[in-house]
Amino acid sequence: MSRKVYRATAPSNIAFLKYWGKRPGAVQWPANNSLSMTLGKARTQTDAYLASHKDHAIRLSQNALDRGSASGKKVYAHLDFLADRFGFSDKLAIETSNTFPTGCGIASSASGLAALTIAALAAWTQSDSFEQLTTKGFDIETLAHLSRLGSGSAGRSLFGGYVHWEAGDNAESQKINPVFSEKHWTLSDVIVVVSNEEKKISSSEGHTYAWSSPLFAARLSGLAEREAAMLAAIKRRDIHALGPLLEHDALEMHSIMASMTPPAYYLTAKSNELISWVRQLRKAQHIPVYFTIDAGPNLHLICETSEVPRLLTHLEEVVPADQILVDGVGEGPTLRLAE
Ligand code: PMV
Repeated sequence: MSRKVYRATAPSNIAFLKYWGKRPGAVQWPANNSLSMTLGKARTQTDAYLASHKDHAIRLSQNALDRGSASGKKVYAHLDFLADRFGFSDKLAIETSNTFPTGCGIASSASGLAALTIAALAAWTQSDSFEQLTTKGFDIETLAHLSRLGSGSAGRSLFGGYVHWEAGDNAESQKINPVFSEKHWTLSDVIVVVSNEEKKISSSEGHTYAWSSPLFAARLSGLAEREAAMLAAIKRRDIHALGPLLEHDALEMHSIMASMTPPAYYLTAKSNELISWVRQLRKAQHIPVYFTIDAGPNLHLICETSEVPRLLTHLEEVVPADQILVDGVGEGPTLRLAE
């Protein structure tokens, strides 16, 4: 058995235009297009090599991950899917860790499933670069689609900068593309960790309930216009135009979540307090900073990087410093042999 260790890293991403709702009857076909910013610091590193075990052996931050465990299920299911689809029979030894503190409430499924897809395919095909993976039939676009099948948002983590996921006319015609590079506009994401509790309704489950909200059809009918306005704002590097669209989209998604059957409430009293605080800060201090929120209570404060010091001065008066993570737009995944 080869002991060459293939090391992939993949970034997390924060959605500006949210993916919420899957179309029924097709595998991972989102109800709408989405748009995200790839993060620079929040990344997952995954090492993989061929092993002579009876089953894959996966370790997360040096702890064995069992097939039966809540977090293990998704990971093993994705490896089994890749092995079946491409006929790989070798078992893998996998060691994975996040650069952001685990259990801090920052979703690791996007970076985690993207890094897993790259590292596993690199080990199975003995490819130590994206060029080699491409010659074996796994170019970046293919890797993005395979990652998406593990966790929808993971597909967007295959690219740096600002990334668009197009739902397409059918499940097969989806496209994931970087629309602006990380150099185009240096935005920051100041993450306020409100709670690190596990979500009661996972996003995979929540996507299937979206259609039960009476507000969902209204959301879908307005999204094309919002998407065009967001793309235009990013193109012009106009935070005053982008910001209100971010907030509107996040709150709309949370209204869908709250009006689904069963409902999902991800925002806490502290999240709501911080929403008011950000709005007040904008008014009183004229700092152009806007929030977005995923399927959890944590706020992502988006602003131009030059505004971060001023924002932090005020934020540290209301939130303990250890609940603040400063990140920003970043690059796509990497692949190499580990030393
Ligand atoms: O990739 P999933 O299935 O965890 O869904 C992600 C859903 C949101 O984070 C709420 C929005 C998004 O587009 O990332």
